Amino acid sequence: MALRTILTKEDEALRRVCRPVEKFDEKLWSLLDDMAETLYKAKGVGLAAPQIGITRRICVIDVGEGLIECINPEIIKKSGKQRDVEGCLSCPKQWGYVVRPSKCTLRAQNRYGEYYEMQLKELFCRCACHEVDHLDGKLFVDIVDEFVELKEDGE
Ligand code: NI
Repeated sequence: MALRTILTKEDEALRRVCRPVEKFDEKLWSLLDDMAETLYKAKGVGLAAPQIGITRRICVIDVGEGLIECINPEIIKKSGKQRDVEGCLSCPKQWGYVVRPSKCTLRAQNRYGEYYEMQLKELFCRCACHEVDHLDGKLFVDIVDEFVELKEDGE
């Protein structure tokens, strides 16, 4: 496994619409392993492939309930609304309120290409919506409704 460099929002890779994954091979598995390592090292809750310069539809999420690997993920259902503070590993030192669905259904493939669905709520739902947005070149700062100032030691 290897740590990858997390790109910041000025990088144009973060603005591309990512292509679907077609090959579920060792190259993908090694990328997924690197993404997990990079996510944990950065103490984030989610990381999308374009954040490390790979414009493919892949993200990893761990909101404290274990790692999920999402390949070609889609939010196929959403309901309700939640408004809370969000940040992004590609937007250091920026936080702001974002309105997201309060519940959603995530459909994705695992590293073997098998489809799965998960019903998500609260932070897990927020994070999945945030990561899927990355795969379409969208950042939370595009839809933030109010930035918040946090002190350095208040992170
Ligand atoms: Ni992000």
